[in-house]
Amino acid sequence: MAPPAAAAAASPVLLLHRAAKQLWRNRFGSSSFRGQCTASAPQPEPASKGVAAKDELSLQERRRFLREPLPFSAFLTDSFGRRHSYLRISLTEKCNLRCQYCMPEEGVKLTPKSKVLTSEEIVALAGLFVTEGVNKIRLTGGEPLIRPDVVQIVAQLRKLEKLKTIAVTTNGINLARLLPSLKEAGLNLLNVSLDTLVPAKFEFIARRRGTGPQICGITLSLSLPDFDPVTVNCVVMRGLNDNELLDFVKLTEEKPLDVRFIEYMPFDGNKWNFKKLVSYQEMLGTIKQRWPDLERLTSGASDTAKAYRVPDFQGQIGFITSMSEHFCGSCNRLRITADGNLKVCLFGNTEVSLRDLLRSGATEEDILEIIGAAVGRKKQQHAGMFNISQMKNRPMILIGG
Ligand code: 5AD
Ligand code: SF4
Repeated sequence: MAPPAAAAAASPVLLLHRAAKQLWRNRFGSSSFRGQCTASAPQPEPASKGVAAKDELSLQERRRFLREPLPFSAFLTDSFGRRHSYLRISLTEKCNLRCQYCMPEEGVKLTPKSKVLTSEEIVALAGLFVTEGVNKIRLTGGEPLIRPDVVQIVAQLRKLEKLKTIAVTTNGINLARLLPSLKEAGLNLLNVSLDTLVPAKFEFIARRRGTGPQICGITLSLSLPDFDPVTVNCVVMRGLNDNELLDFVKLTEEKPLDVRFIEYMPFDGNKWNFKKLVSYQEMLGTIKQRWPDLERLTSGASDTAKAYRVPDFQGQIGFITSMSEHFCGSCNRLRITADGNLKVCLFGNTEVSLRDLLRSGATEEDILEIIGAAVGRKKQQHAGMFNISQMKNRPMILIGG
């Protein structure tokens, strides 16, 4: 891990930020500068008597300033201009399943509880990121719904005024039990992992019994009013579940589901092998043989999925092509691991401990500077699928899917 002080030195983002801060102080004499600015920017203080006219902002200038937000937070903008408005927070490294593609059979060495972020720390860090412009937070794991305080965490996050979306990625085992209270606490987006519709196969993939609870959770979520579309995550592996592609597409005929087919990615201990990867193009080819008029849907700038719909089907499908066609150019994500490390890229090894900063009494400004430096060091793109498969990386479960 990079030592915080050294990490903060000489980053272009920081230099930019410091210049902006100086400008802010010159203009408004305020110490409450934030890299990001919106309607809540501090009101300019009235110029005191004796200040030379040229140093004052005209009424017109002030009005313009208050109307037009400053550019996105310098702390959360990297050197390639990517604005990171989406934060994924891993609530726990623990999981009640042992999916083959995610973790080794024997499990992983867990961080001691005292080193895992507390709910207060999670909310404090989330608040800092939201002030800077993060508008979507996804809670991940391990399995986030085994954390006993998950509902309280969602409720606390909901109080962050500028946070639009609170999402959870879950394996669905505890979903039906918790969904009503999560929804009430303010959850508004849901991804449920479901890699097979065949119970015996589920047992093989997840090394535990299941599918029933997952399907129950998905059905319940579909019945809740005003809930955004439910996404089903399906990691496709050759020889395991690639023969179920069409069955998954069929699910979208009657239900407003968004089924995401995810290319199998390598992580430490998951026995990834190039032959097990089923590429986007191959999946698309298989699906188009059955539904030749499958139509491509337009997606938003930072959508990671390539979206499609079978005409007249209620739901849609999408492909996450991390391996065959990376989407690093539009990446707007940052991750915080359960033990409080900031990870600017899923496939990168550099991490900065925000937990240690918090616990050592660092000020918000210090923490923001370290975050800014880490974001500033984010690489343009990941190393490509062959390099990734050779890299040492944390198992998926420790990173927070
Ligand atoms: N490849 C692709 N996706 C993965 N996930 C976990 N491990 C992998 C992997 N090796 C994703 C799945 C799962 C979520 C928790 O993380 O989408 O649903
Ligand atoms: Fe658990 Fe999700 Fe990993 Fe499966 S993929 S072991 S459900 S964290």
